[in-house]
Amino acid sequence: MTKQKTNRQQNGQTAATKKTSDHNARTRLWSTIAVVSVLAVVGAVLFLAPSFKNNVDATEITMYKSPSCGCCGKWADHLSDAGFEVKTINRDNMSSIKSSAGVTPELQSCHTALVGGYVIEGHVPAADIRRLLQERPKVTGLTAPGMPMGSPGMEGSRKDPYKVLTFDKNGKTTVYAEH
Ligand code: CU
Ligand code: CU
Repeated sequence: MTKQKTNRQQNGQTAATKKTSDHNARTRLWSTIAVVSVLAVVGAVLFLAPSFKNNVDATEITMYKSPSCGCCGKWADHLSDAGFEVKTINRDNMSSIKSSAGVTPELQSCHTALVGGYVIEGHVPAADIRRLLQERPKVTGLTAPGMPMGSPGMEGSRKDPYKVLTFDKNGKTTVYAEH
């Protein structure tokens, strides 16, 4: 009788211990699931954030250039580095592109690019284009007339000061930036 009681007590204790350890195991399982879930979410955010950022920044710009132009390619690299997605189109007859884009002879450079409804003529820095797309003034576009030494894509031994101008369809220009 006494022995049976002791056994029951022991069994009861064992059952209680088992219950506690089951509970602990479940708690551990849920903790593990929670930690894994948090890690998965953090991982996904870290993985997706940069590509999401790139998609937001990637402004498409179409550049027309003569097939033989080397500095045009370097300017395109400068824009790619600044997060633009550059589409390059080679054209033998650049003067027809320029006249239809409203770029008068005194404003001309090598390449002519189109971005967000604007015309970009020559070696205009990416930062000026970003500012243009943000401010959206009522102009045809920007130009860095000629081929200023030291402008993006025209890096060399010399760095000449140059101006970036806005121009409109009436031939009016304003100074947009000085470099
Ligand atoms: Cu050039
Ligand atoms: Cu060019």
